[in-house]
Amino acid sequence: MVTFGGIFCVVILAVMLPCLDVALGQSTDPSEVDALGAIKGSLLDPMNNLENWNRGDPCTSNWTGVFCHIINDALHVTELQLFKRNLSGTLAPEDFMWNNLTGSIPKEIGNITTLKLILLNGNQLSGFLPDEIGNLQNLNRLQIDQNQILGPIPKSFANLRHVKHLHMNNNSLSGKIPSELWRIPLLLHLLVDNNNLSGPLPTELAKAPALKIFQADNNNFSGSSIPATYSNIKTLLKLSLRNCNLQGAIPDLSAISELGYLDLSWNKLTGPIPTNQLASNITTLDLSHNMLNGTVPLNFSGLPNLQLLSVENNRLDGAVPSEIWNDIVLTGNRSLVLDFQNNSLKTIPAAFNPPQNVTVMLYGNPVCGNSSGAPIDSLCQPQSVNQQTSRQQQDSSLICSPCPSDKNYEYNPSSPIPCFCAVPLGVGIRLKSPGITDFNPYEGAFGDSTTSLLKLYIYQLHVEHYIWEVGPRLNMHLKLFPSNTSLFNMSEVVRLQHVLAGWEITLPDIFGPYELLNFTLGSYVDEYPNEASSGLSKTAMGAILASAIAAAFALSAVATVLIMRRRSRHRSRTVSKRSLSRFSVKIDGVRCFKFEEMARATNNFDLLAQVGQGGYGKVYRGTLDDGEIVAIKRAHEDSLQGSKEFCTEIELLSRLHHRNLVSLVGYCDEADEQMLVYEYMPNGTLRDHLSCKYTATLYYSNFI
Ligand SMILES: *[C@@H]1O[C@H](CO)[C@@H](O)[C@H](O)[C@H]1NC(C)=O
Ligand SMILES: *[C@@H]1O[C@H](CO)[C@@H](O)[C@H](O)[C@H]1NC(C)=O
Ligand SMILES: *[C@@H]1O[C@H](CO)[C@@H](O)[C@H](O)[C@H]1NC(C)=O
Ligand SMILES: *[C@@H]1O[C@H](CO)[C@@H](O)[C@H](O)[C@H]1NC(C)=O
Ligand SMILES: *[C@@H]1O[C@H](CO)[C@@H](O)[C@H](O)[C@H]1NC(C)=O
Ligand SMILES: *[C@@H]1O[C@H](CO)[C@@H](O)[C@H](O)[C@H]1NC(C)=O
Ligand SMILES: *[C@@H]1O[C@H](CO)[C@@H](O)[C@H](O)[C@H]1NC(C)=O
Ligand SMILES: *[C@@H]1O[C@H](CO)[C@@H](O)[C@H](O)[C@H]1NC(C)=O
Ligand SMILES: *[C@@H]1O[C@H](CO)[C@@H](O)[C@H](O)[C@H]1NC(C)=O
Ligand SMILES: *[C@@H]1O[C@H](CO)[C@@H](O)[C@H](O)[C@H]1NC(C)=O
Ligand SMILES: *[C@@H]1O[C@H](CO)[C@@H](O)[C@H](O)[C@H]1NC(C)=O
Ligand SMILES: *[C@@H]1O[C@H](CO)[C@@H](O)[C@H](O)[C@H]1NC(C)=O
Repeated sequence: MVTFGGIFCVVILAVMLPCLDVALGQSTDPSEVDALGAIKGSLLDPMNNLENWNRGDPCTSNWTGVFCHIINDALHVTELQLFKRNLSGTLAPEDFMWNNLTGSIPKEIGNITTLKLILLNGNQLSGFLPDEIGNLQNLNRLQIDQNQILGPIPKSFANLRHVKHLHMNNNSLSGKIPSELWRIPLLLHLLVDNNNLSGPLPTELAKAPALKIFQADNNNFSGSSIPATYSNIKTLLKLSLRNCNLQGAIPDLSAISELGYLDLSWNKLTGPIPTNQLASNITTLDLSHNMLNGTVPLNFSGLPNLQLLSVENNRLDGAVPSEIWNDIVLTGNRSLVLDFQNNSLKTIPAAFNPPQNVTVMLYGNPVCGNSSGAPIDSLCQPQSVNQQTSRQQQDSSLICSPCPSDKNYEYNPSSPIPCFCAVPLGVGIRLKSPGITDFNPYEGAFGDSTTSLLKLYIYQLHVEHYIWEVGPRLNMHLKLFPSNTSLFNMSEVVRLQHVLAGWEITLPDIFGPYELLNFTLGSYVDEYPNEASSGLSKTAMGAILASAIAAAFALSAVATVLIMRRRSRHRSRTVSKRSLSRFSVKIDGVRCFKFEEMARATNNFDLLAQVGQGGYGKVYRGTLDDGEIVAIKRAHEDSLQGSKEFCTEIELLSRLHHRNLVSLVGYCDEADEQMLVYEYMPNGTLRDHLSCKYTATLYYSNFI
């Protein structure tokens, strides 16, 4: 039987002592350990978040933010998660706040070629991006957004054969976007907005085989134009080049069949708007604040998913179009905003009658001055496009009687059972680059896909509120309710937390990448496996859960079973049986013995071998297989300690070296057996050898 107590032991020991291995008995690849050392050396860490990065082995000694997997029978670092992660509840901000990590990313990171995730976002890192990042052939995701990183994007990134996500927005990157990036075969999301990049935009990006989101807003590609080749990026879902100092004409992008979001606003684009029909998936078309002339193309009609068309502050003339909404089924909470403000539109059809949910903005056009008609006057007021910026949830407690107040019970507004009280989990997320402008009509789709990814029923999710932030990014707060019971069981809480925090799920493309802002445990805090209840640190917990997930891919069946069992047993506080040896605890100079060896050494715990007896159990003189004479302290059944105590003892014993103290040779922890193996002291009892200055209660009190 394997219990969680065993893990506690492993973790505790690991903090203090080198060379502890989980399951298969390895330690981390030495070059990776060196590289981590170099990383620690180059990061300034005023809050001492990386304090434990010099104790023992990175993969087995609870190094914060380091996650490992077993690859080809060896332990390798696969994730560095040192990002700002304000998880709340027991996953408290102080454990996950990295806002203060400064310094730069050292080139040695390129030596950890097994890395799959690098999450350093939300710190204050500066310095240049090392070329060596390009060596990370296994990298899936590089998130360095929201730092102060300088210099160019290395061309070597083109070698990142497995990278899907490059999130580098909100830094101070400069230079050109390397044209080589198109060679990344799997690249889905390239976010480089809010940097100081310069032009020209790489035309070669058009050859990128998988690119879905390219967002480069707020850079200065001074004077360059939008490459016409971009119309060849067939996979492109979102192209956002707002405020990039672009000039020239807008290329015809009608060939991009999946295009859903196009933002070219705040540039210096000239000429007419291309008249070819854009993809029917378009939700957002923002061409505002340019110098476009000509007329508003009729082809803007017939876009069934359109939510926002903004051409404000251009030089468009001709008539106000009156058919754009014709093909849009404006049901439910569907709406359409047409912003034509500050152009030169001169005429309007006589029968201009937009439906209720269509907002037309005409302020600043000659047509407003010409007209004295009442219907159009209301459209001529200055307005800003902000009607859908946020939503607060209505309160359903008005009709239901109050929930019990001992835990944070709430009504699940989506529950099929009316007025059903349950304790929710809170999840704050931010969509970093959504492909929509109005979330309302997509709330259903969001709920469907999110619940299906999280393996929940649709009614278990409730979008409590959301607010649009600059970017635009969508900040949302979700509540997850248990399914027709009042409480989640704890393994479900742990699963949900892990799936969300570990990027186990990918939202549909239209919602783009997300970041987890917080995970609020509420009343589940008390039960959440933490140091108090399970002995596991939050970080270690995460590491072990991560391993459990990874186990499915990489670990041997044995390791998988062990890890899964530890996990499933983690709530058990009553530890009756342990098996430390299953985890092959290795401490320098402290050996782990099998029960059989102990039995052999003592001739099956023969009475003749017994040299003493105490409250704790019996002490035997034994001869190990290698001939060494030892004293074996065997706990009797009533004295079996929790693994925690037992391990604390081993750990203390192994640290205390004193000429007057007998030293620990090893231990045995199997089934219903706990034994400590000491150096044998032939003359008299051990008590005689105790020096007075050691009260040694922990150490020897129950030895004899
Ligand atoms: C990284 O690898 C290079 C060669 O591949 C080696 O020279 C260097 O010492 C390594 N650095 C560390 C910190 O292991
Ligand atoms: C994280 O928490 C800190 C303070 O605890 C707060 O200032 C900050 O805004 C939070 N960040 C997010 C993204 O929630
Ligand atoms: C960052 O460090 C300063 C002191 O150096 C401290 O006052 C501040 O609270 C820290 N911020 C966070 C988010 O940890
Ligand atoms: C990114 O940078 C922009 C411009 O400086 C800023 O408005 C925005 O809040 C930043 N976003 C994040 C998520 O830090
Ligand atoms: C942005 O880059 C230009 C060179 O392209 C440089 O002159 C300028 O100082 C940079 N600005 C910032 C704020 O780094
Ligand atoms: C953009 O870059 C050009 C040329 O480097 C410079 O003249 C211009 O001032 C910059 N614009 C902004 C907004 O920084
Ligand atoms: C449009 O979007 C939907 C999902 O919103 C997707 O299934 C479809 O493939 C997209 N492309 C086209 C051409 O409709
Ligand atoms: C788009 O409009 C142009 C003229 O404005 C017309 O020639 C073309 O056929 C239209 N295309 C579609 C798909 O409606
Ligand atoms: C649009 O502006 C360009 C200059 O940017 C000019 O050459 C062209 O004639 C204009 N077209 C119309 C229809 O005004
Ligand atoms: C759209 O119109 C319907 C009634 O036709 C209304 O109930 C709904 O609130 C409107 N939605 C928006 C977003 O204006
Ligand atoms: C979690 O994040 C959401 C969205 O930013 C926010 O509304 C909520 O108040 C946060 N909760 C906590 C406990 O910080
Ligand atoms: C593991 O590391 C974390 C963060 O440094 C620390 O808070 C925790 O106490 C450690 N766990 C153990 C069991 O030492």
